[in-house]
Amino acid sequence: MKLAIIGAGNVGGALGKAWAEKAGHDVFFGVRQPASEKTQALLAGIRGKVQAGSPQQAAAFADVIVLTTPWPETEGAIRAMGDLKGKIVLDCTNPLGMVDGALGLVIGHSISGGEKVQGWAAGTSVFKTLNTTGFGNMADPNYKDGKPVMFVAGNDAANKPKVMTLVGDLGFDMVDAGPLRNARLLEAHAMLWIDLALNRGHGRDFAFGILRR
Ligand SMILES: NC(=O)c1ccc[n+]([C@@H]2O[C@H](COP(=O)([O-])OP(=O)(O)OC[C@H]3O[C@@H](n4cnc5c(N)ncnc54)[C@H](OP(=O)(O)O)[C@@H]3O)[C@@H](O)[C@H]2O)c1
Repeated sequence: MKLAIIGAGNVGGALGKAWAEKAGHDVFFGVRQPASEKTQALLAGIRGKVQAGSPQQAAAFADVIVLTTPWPETEGAIRAMGDLKGKIVLDCTNPLGMVDGALGLVIGHSISGGEKVQGWAAGTSVFKTLNTTGFGNMADPNYKDGKPVMFVAGNDAANKPKVMTLVGDLGFDMVDAGPLRNARLLEAHAMLWIDLALNRGHGRDFAFGILRR
């Protein structure tokens, strides 16, 4: 599949490498400085089909656009890509910032970043996913007790199976988390992972999983 990854930091870099190397997907990083040393080093460290260009070039190339930008940059990054009609968008961002003196969701809990992204990316199908665990787990989701869970929330039922397969290629236990509105739950769930990792002594080497009878 042809993938545009917008942003090539912790999350974008880990996802691009994993999708190219584990599943042979065609990865096009959409970045602000494609020729920078940082971008070139990232490309050199990935075995597989990878390239970098502007976010607009990446979007034109791809069927699926993966957003991995910091929240304050996300609206601008989407608008800079121009007409995205008909594309699938995976929103991996979290609307993080300081709220009442602590890290929180700057847009509150009665709307989600995923729904805002849908508003900015007119004519696309937005799915909220890959926001509820750390980038280390995206690079390496292997745990001796089983696969970490990964949720997908989105309204486009026709394309959801394709998205579940694509994210599942990374090695997650995939769960359909319902409509895009449920991004409100997934973004709060991300805050729980972050709080446990940063403030409760769990570090980054843990992941949530689901037990079933
Ligand atoms: N870190 C995690 O474990 C984790 C887990 C789940 C979700 N998330 C979410 O994923 C997002 C990215 O997190 P991160 O840790 O990967 O951040 P990061 O390491 O700071 O990477 C962000 C990337 O976005 C790029 N960028 C910024 N503005 C851009 C624009 N207008 N157009 C194109 N690229 C742009 C930056 O490029 P430059 O080099 O040009 O600045 C950088 O490569 C955030 O929304 C975060 O909340 C993070």
